[in-house]
Amino acid sequence: MFSKQTYIDRRNGLKALVGNGIILLPGNEESSMNYKDNLYHFRQDSSFLYYTGLDKPALFFLMDIDNNKETIFGDEATIDDIVWTGATQTIHTQAEQSGITTVLPVSTLVSALQQYTNEKRKVHYLPPYRADTAVKISEWLNIPYNTLNDKASIPLIKAIVKQRSVKSAEEIAEMEKAINVTADMQLKAMQLSREGVPEYQVAGHLEGIAKSAGGNLSFPIILTTNGQYLHNHAGSNILKNGQLLLCDCGAELQSHYAGDLTRTSPVGGRFTSLQKQVYNIVLNAQEAALAALAPGKKFIDIHLLACEKLTAGLQQLGLMKGDIKEAVAAGAHTLFFQCGLGHMMGLDVHDMENLGEQYVGYTDDLKKSTAFGLKSLRLARALEEGFVVTIEPGLYFIPELMDMWSAENKHSQFINYGALDAFRNFGGIRIEDDALITATGSRVLGKPLAKTSQEIEALCG
Ligand code: GLY
Ligand code: MN
Repeated sequence: MFSKQTYIDRRNGLKALVGNGIILLPGNEESSMNYKDNLYHFRQDSSFLYYTGLDKPALFFLMDIDNNKETIFGDEATIDDIVWTGATQTIHTQAEQSGITTVLPVSTLVSALQQYTNEKRKVHYLPPYRADTAVKISEWLNIPYNTLNDKASIPLIKAIVKQRSVKSAEEIAEMEKAINVTADMQLKAMQLSREGVPEYQVAGHLEGIAKSAGGNLSFPIILTTNGQYLHNHAGSNILKNGQLLLCDCGAELQSHYAGDLTRTSPVGGRFTSLQKQVYNIVLNAQEAALAALAPGKKFIDIHLLACEKLTAGLQQLGLMKGDIKEAVAAGAHTLFFQCGLGHMMGLDVHDMENLGEQYVGYTDDLKKSTAFGLKSLRLARALEEGFVVTIEPGLYFIPELMDMWSAENKHSQFINYGALDAFRNFGGIRIEDDALITATGSRVLGKPLAKTSQEIEALCG
C-alpha cells in the first residue's frame, strides 16, 4: 500500500470531479474454479484498489459525496475462517491505513442503498465486468440486468479515467519494478528457446519468475511459435530450429502494477536472413513510434506513423506497392498489422479497459473506428505527461487472412499477392516496450533489454 495520504488525496480528487451523489465501488469476490472451495487466484478490482488500497475479497465501498461519508462494507473473519485460513489484520485496521474509519457489515449495505434510492439520490457505479457483481448491482439498485452497462455513470467513468491515466512518481516506480521482472522473464525465454523444448515448459519457467517476485502474471503468457496469431497462448508445440518464438508477457507486482514486454527470438539462436529483414522493419517502426511520443501528440497519429514505416518495409520486401500514405489510409497494411500500436498501462495491463475503450483511449470528439485494424486501436487520444503506454508494432503473416484477401483481390493496387507464398509459414514478429510520457518526450521504462537482432541472437539458447 502507498501512504494513507495518497488514498485520501485520490478520493478527495474523485469526489470533487464527480460533484454529487453516491459512489458505489464494489471490490471483487472470490471465484470458484471447479468446485466452490477450489478458488482462482484472487484479483482485486483495480479501481477499488486505487481508491482504498484494500486487497481482500468481498468488500464494498460507498462514498456519500454530499455528506462527505466514506464507508467500507465487509464482514470480519469468523472463527471458522480463521481455523481454515489463519488470522489476518481486521478490515477495520486495514481500512484505517488508507484513512477510512467506518466499516460496517455487508448486510447493512442493501438498506443503505435502499435509502439512497428512496431519496432519489444518484448512485454512481461502473460497468460491471463480473457476473456476480452485476447481479448484485442489479438487485441492489433495482436496475434490469441487461441495462446495467447503459446506466453506468459516465461522470464516474470519466473522473476515474482522468485520475488513473496520469501516474504519480510512486506508481511509476512500481511499474518500473514490474517491467524489470518482466525483462527477467524475457531473458529466460530467450535462454530456454531451444530445439525440442515445448512452449509450455518455457512459459512455466516465466510464470515462476513472476510469482517468485511476490506477485503474479499481468495476463496469461503469450508464448508461441504461431506468433502470426496475435494472442496465441502458450501451447504444446515443440520448438524447432529455424522457427520464430514470440513471447509477450508481463509480471504484476503485489501492488498490482503491471509490466508488458514482447520479444521475438529465433529458436536455435540465429535469425535467417529473411527473418532478420522482417525483424528490422518492425524494429524500425517501433523505434520511430517511441521517438515520436510526446505530450500533446495524438496516439492515433503515432500508430499511423508506425503503419507507414511497416508499409515502407513491406514495399522493400516486395509485398506491398503504391503510395505509402494512400495504402495506410485505405487499410491495406492491415493484412500484415491487424491491431493497434499500443495501450495504456497501470494497475491493469490494458489500463482501465473495463471502463470502456471509448472513455479511456478516445474523447467525445474522437470516436473509435469500426474499420478492420483501427477497431483494435485501444488508444487514440492526445498523450499527456504521466501516461504510461506500450509501443508494440508487429508483422503477422496469417495464412487464413492472406488467402481470404487474395481470393477477394482486396486492395490489389497496394498488395503483391504473388509474393505472399514465401511468407505462408513465416509466423509473426512483435516488439514491445513500455514508455512513460515525460514533459518533453518519453522514457522507456525498466532496465535495458536486448532488442536488436544481434543482441537477441547473443542471448538465445
Ligand atoms: N501484451 C498483450 C496485449 O497487450 O494485449
Ligand atoms: Mn501490450
